[in-house]
Amino acid sequence: MNLTIAANWKMYKTTQETQDFMEEFKLLQEEFASSQVVICPPFTSLSAAGELLSGTQYSLGAQNMLWESEGAFTGEISPLMLKDQGVNYIILGHSERRWIMGETNEQINKKLKAAFQNNLVPIFCVGETEENRKAGETDSVILEQLREGLKGINPADINDLVIAYEPVWAIGTGLAATKEDAVKVIEGCILKEMKDFMGDSDTRVRVLYGGSVKEDNIGDFVSAPGIDGALVGGASLKTDSFAGLIRAAQNALRAQEG
Ligand code: PGA
Repeated sequence: MNLTIAANWKMYKTTQETQDFMEEFKLLQEEFASSQVVICPPFTSLSAAGELLSGTQYSLGAQNMLWESEGAFTGEISPLMLKDQGVNYIILGHSERRWIMGETNEQINKKLKAAFQNNLVPIFCVGETEENRKAGETDSVILEQLREGLKGINPADINDLVIAYEPVWAIGTGLAATKEDAVKVIEGCILKEMKDFMGDSDTRVRVLYGGSVKEDNIGDFVSAPGIDGALVGGASLKTDSFAGLIRAAQNALRAQEG
C-alpha cells in the first residue's frame, strides 16, 4: 500500500497533551503498519513526541526551520537541532508561514536546500489563494512556487521529497477541494513539472493533498490518480479522528486494490 498521511498540529498541544495522544496512538501501530504516518508537533513537543515514537514505525516531523546550522538567529531552529530530536520530515512553505509570517519563495528555497543537505525529507507545500483561483492563476502560481522553491537544487541530491498541494482557500475552512479539482492541479501541473525537473532521477516524488481532509473525504483523495496521501490539520488533533481518517484511507485503497 502506498499511503502517506502527515499530521500538521500547527500551534496546538502542550507536552502533556502530546504524550496523551502518542500513548493512545502507539496502540494502533499494527493496524497502520502498511502506511507511512508522519506526526509534526510544535517544537516544544518534539522531544516528548520523539521519545514516545522511537522504536515505532511512525515518523516525526517539524513544521519549520531556518536554513543555517547555528548562529545569531534569535527565535529560530536549525536542521541540526531538529535532527537531534529525532526529526525526519520537515514541513516547508506552509501557506500559514507564507501568508501570515511573510515567508518568500527565496527563503523556502534556502530551507529546501538545507533540508536535502541534512537528510530531512521536505513536505514542500504549494497552493493558490482564492484570489489566484478566481483570476485563473492557479497553475502559474504553483509553477512559480515549485520553480523558485527548487531553484539551484540538483535532482541527484534529492533522495526523498513530498509535495503537498494545499489550496489556501481549503485550509481550515471545512471546504475541501473536490477530487477532480485536486487531480487537475496535481496531474496537470505539479506532476508534469516534477517529471521535467527530476529528469532521469530514480527518486519518486510523493504528492499529498491538504485542506479540510477528514475521515469522510479522505477515501476520495487517496484513490484518485497521482495522490499518495494527505497533509491533515484539524482532523489530526484527536486520536479518534486521526485514526478514523487513516483507517478510511487504508480501506479505500484496499477496496481499489481489490
Ligand atoms: P486543515 O489544515 O486540515 O485543518 O484544513 C491542513 C493544513 O494546514 O496542512
